[in-house]
Amino acid sequence: MQQDMIVILDLGSEQNAQIAREIRALGVYTEIHPHDITAEQLAALPSVRGIILNGGKNRVVDGVSIDASDAVYQSGLPLLAVDHSGKAEGGLERWPEEDTQRKETLSHFVFERCKASANWNMQNFIADQVELIRRQVGDRKVLLALSGGVDSSVVAALLIKAVGDQLTCVHVNHGLLRLGEPEQVVEVFREQLQANLIYVDAADRFLQKLEGVADPEQKRKIIGAEFIRVFEEEARKLEGIRLLAQGTIYPDIVESGTKTAKMVKSHHNVGGLPEDMDFELIEPLKMLFKDEVRACGVELGLPEGMVYRQPFPGPGLGVRCLGAITRERLEMVRHSDAILREEIAKAGLDKSIWQYFTVVPDFQSVGVRENARCFEYPVILRAVNTIDAMTAEVPSLDWAVLRRITNRILAEVPGINRVCYDLSPKPPATIEWE
Ligand code: XMP
Repeated sequence: MQQDMIVILDLGSEQNAQIAREIRALGVYTEIHPHDITAEQLAALPSVRGIILNGGKNRVVDGVSIDASDAVYQSGLPLLAVDHSGKAEGGLERWPEEDTQRKETLSHFVFERCKASANWNMQNFIADQVELIRRQVGDRKVLLALSGGVDSSVVAALLIKAVGDQLTCVHVNHGLLRLGEPEQVVEVFREQLQANLIYVDAADRFLQKLEGVADPEQKRKIIGAEFIRVFEEEARKLEGIRLLAQGTIYPDIVESGTKTAKMVKSHHNVGGLPEDMDFELIEPLKMLFKDEVRACGVELGLPEGMVYRQPFPGPGLGVRCLGAITRERLEMVRHSDAILREEIAKAGLDKSIWQYFTVVPDFQSVGVRENARCFEYPVILRAVNTIDAMTAEVPSLDWAVLRRITNRILAEVPGINRVCYDLSPKPPATIEWE
């Protein structure tokens, strides 16, 4: 391995990921591990140069006081003990609140005391992963559910680099993707990267299953279950593949909680595969934060539009076509979304707004067309800025941009007679309408 590592031990702090990010920003690789790491586990980690004991409020978790294991104190490695309570006690260093001071403290520890090299970069990461993947895979075959999202696309590109045509990608088009998305997946992976790509057009199948189902949770369940069924059918046809690649990334792991952190959320996405499928997993991105995944994708030559695309829910446009999905309204969502994306890009806002999309509810209102009353659907425009999707603000879009989007949707999308802009922040609203 090419990279030095600083280990962060989680002693009940909520700032593990933040410190990890700050150290990686210095160009040094970090991993977060539980406080009771054993000597064997520590020895198995490559190139550890130092350990940060990252405490929360007085290192108490659920009323129980915790400390790092003896293995840590006996490791002989440089240790930095920090406490986020604001009180400096028992030899702990108080954690500076100020960004520049924090950076100085970390930088001094990492480079002066641990003598770590700043060699964490994407070229080294890719070189390491290619070697590790080749070692794990050998001459076997690997399967990947390629949704076209950032994470699965980057995993695909990495595996193609490492094992080429030993990888088979399955792209399930559930009919709820955005305009042009399935075509882009086929173009990039089959045509440009020469991947083995099985493209499954399952749109009719999904829409039939969803017919008449209005309850949002029920819709999500049907889409998730059907996705697994389609994928399993394809996997069965490819007898003998035992290895499954997955686009798990670091926040998925950190957010599901280490031993001391409470379960934050378990994010079940479409593409989440059943646990009883008997596969050995390859998860080469599991130590990367989202921006690092994107940088990896760029380094591997994926198109910017794929790497920097905005978040998109697994159940896709299904959560934006409110109530029971009909083909007619689904097309309205897809078409208006394409117009919105085009106009936001034209206005130069596509990199600065975090997420933007359209929603079509399942009611109509009166309008007038060719001198006659008409009952047609509204389109709701949604745009948000956020750091972590837990809270969100609505950007003040320029009136001229809003008007252009509105005029185009009214002129080009059949069946729409109104366009509204949702001004609600989260909370109390959510980002999606469902
Ligand atoms: P809400 O509506 O809860 O959405 O404010 C927060 C963010 O999560 C996205 N979202 C999903 N992402 N799988 C995902 O990967 C999903 O099933 C899913 N549902 C919602 C949503 O687009 C927003 O960015």
